[in-house]
Amino acid sequence: MFKMRNVIISLATLFIVNIFIQQGKCNFAFKRRAYTKILGFSWENCGKSGDPVVTKILEVSPDPISVPGDLNATAAASTAVELAAPLSLNVTLDKDVAGFWVKVPCVEQLGSCDYSDACELLDSLIPPGQDCPEPLHTYGIPCHCPFKAGEYSLPPSEFHIPDVDLPFWLTNGKYKVEGILGNKGQELGCLKVSFALHST
Ligand SMILES: *[C@@H]1O[C@H](CO)[C@@H](O)[C@H](O)[C@H]1NC(C)=O
Ligand SMILES: *[C@@H]1O[C@H](CO)[C@@H](O)[C@H](O)[C@H]1NC(C)=O
Repeated sequence: MFKMRNVIISLATLFIVNIFIQQGKCNFAFKRRAYTKILGFSWENCGKSGDPVVTKILEVSPDPISVPGDLNATAAASTAVELAAPLSLNVTLDKDVAGFWVKVPCVEQLGSCDYSDACELLDSLIPPGQDCPEPLHTYGIPCHCPFKAGEYSLPPSEFHIPDVDLPFWLTNGKYKVEGILGNKGQELGCLKVSFALHST
């Protein structure tokens, strides 16, 4: 009887240890570090006519862009209304699977996710009270809500893209991302971006 209990405890322990090891493996596989290339970046406005937020210029070079690596970007956008919290940001990420666009679900806040407040997202990325990151600071471009109505433009600027952990599902292939900015269910603007990813 005593022996039998030991066997059961040993088996139970093995079982639990095994679960931990399996989960460890999953965590390990969840993020991968790799050299990635972003190819064929293109963009378009997808807003309705009359949307107050319009992207006018969005140029990135070189093609392909290396991650980690440097890129040059030029951007300009305008808003006819002040952008203040809460600003919903509804993102749809589609991946080309054998010629069909397939929606990527929202996993750990990435993918096709509806964010209830982009202002909060900005505050969590860039703590309020500190200078906006370069080159925004140099050109006096704000990085927190509210954004006053007007024109915003970023002259050609070089950015360094750091070594980032890509989510496991972001595999090689073609993607398109649509982002709709809104407030109280009203669309303010829409931007669509397409690119291909190639990791080695
Ligand atoms: C960015 O543009 C500058 C000036 O045109 C150029 O010297 C630099 O090589 C470019 N950087 C990249 C990563 O293409
Ligand atoms: C964004 O998504 C939320 C929640 O899914 C929805 O209530 C809202 O109407 C959407 N906003 C726009 C502008 O489509």
